[in-house]
Amino acid sequence: MRLGTAIALELLIAGGAIGAVTFGVTRAADLADSYLVKPAVAAELPLPETELLPKAMLHVEHPPSTPSVFGGPDLELLAPLGATPVVKTKINHGGTSLSLRLDFASGARAAFKPLQIYPQSDPRKEIAAYRIDRLLGIGRVPPATWAEVTVASVVAGAEEQYRPFVAKRLADEALYKQGMLRGEMSWWVPEVVPARLNGLPLDEPEGRHLWSQYLSVNAKVPPEARNLITQLGAMIVFDALVDNDDRWSGGNILMSPDRQVLYTMDNTFTFSREWSDRPAYALKKCQVFSRALVARIRGLTLAQLEAAVRVTEPRAGSPSMLLTDEELAAVLMRRDRIVEHIDRMIAEYGESAVLSL
Ligand SMILES: Nc1ncnc2c1ncn2[C@@H]1O[C@H](COP(=O)(O)OP(=O)(O)O)[C@@H](O)[C@H]1O
Ligand SMILES: [Mg+2]
Repeated sequence: MRLGTAIALELLIAGGAIGAVTFGVTRAADLADSYLVKPAVAAELPLPETELLPKAMLHVEHPPSTPSVFGGPDLELLAPLGATPVVKTKINHGGTSLSLRLDFASGARAAFKPLQIYPQSDPRKEIAAYRIDRLLGIGRVPPATWAEVTVASVVAGAEEQYRPFVAKRLADEALYKQGMLRGEMSWWVPEVVPARLNGLPLDEPEGRHLWSQYLSVNAKVPPEARNLITQLGAMIVFDALVDNDDRWSGGNILMSPDRQVLYTMDNTFTFSREWSDRPAYALKKCQVFSRALVARIRGLTLAQLEAAVRVTEPRAGSPSMLLTDEELAAVLMRRDRIVEHIDRMIAEYGESAVLSL
């Protein structure tokens, strides 16, 4: 790290070019200082105790292939993630957690959420959400798996003037051990845009009002909105099941640029043991549902869920689970609440009106 670079970093941050608005000039100076003194700052800071598994034990057994909207079989999309060295690093903006984009020497690209200090961003939950999405046949969570990369390679992958910033964020926010970051890697969706319906953001009041009308019994849904409404209905049921309490907090509903595909992305704030207000509220706005999805939800068993979230660790000789017994029991508790709501709608409006998506 050269003094000139440290000064450039301060200027960039002072000018807002890095985009991390909460990161002030004073802290930028601290950061530049510490990076000047300790080029390998991230690897040398006192590390929280996080158990890391040797790479060979991170093999994940995937549920049977379910068609998805990501243009290829999950295992093929996941195989190159973390398999070759990191060549480029970027910190994703717009969220409240530590979320990175990594490019690999092979040309593959991943979203990477390492184990981190933020309770709302627990990487195992993103993998569990992906697997349950496939179990339900929805196919809209980007394929996700455990992976490991070195802190040094992630820092080195950033442009030179941003390296101190990346090192500092990893040092402050990631949980890592012996220079290794462990976390969840998702296949990178090449292009996403904020989700809109008739030009209205889905997660703002006017957009919400519109979709809740369209998800009402006997609504007149314009043909061009129908596909999106069906996908949104599935996402709301999914979120109620996994208890995603972050979907409606802004910036977490994304779609393809052609506005045809809704992605169920950012599922790390999930799997509480509760029936949280926000996902439950969204569900209660829905009066119509997909018949196929309702059949899968009704038929969901603990055994299916356990199989979906089981991770095999060949060297340990025993499987481990992405979710605890209590978290799995809470999924089934919420399943019962979802079914109760759907049955109430059916009693009131009739099955053909309700199971109409
Ligand atoms: N798999 C992915 N493919 C494409 N873009 C992604 C992916 N994961 C995250 N992103 C981008 O990074 C941003 C932040 O990621 P997100 O998972 O929402 O993190 P946070 O938990 O901090 O909100 C997203 O809004 C999206 O633009
Ligand atoms: Mg987000």
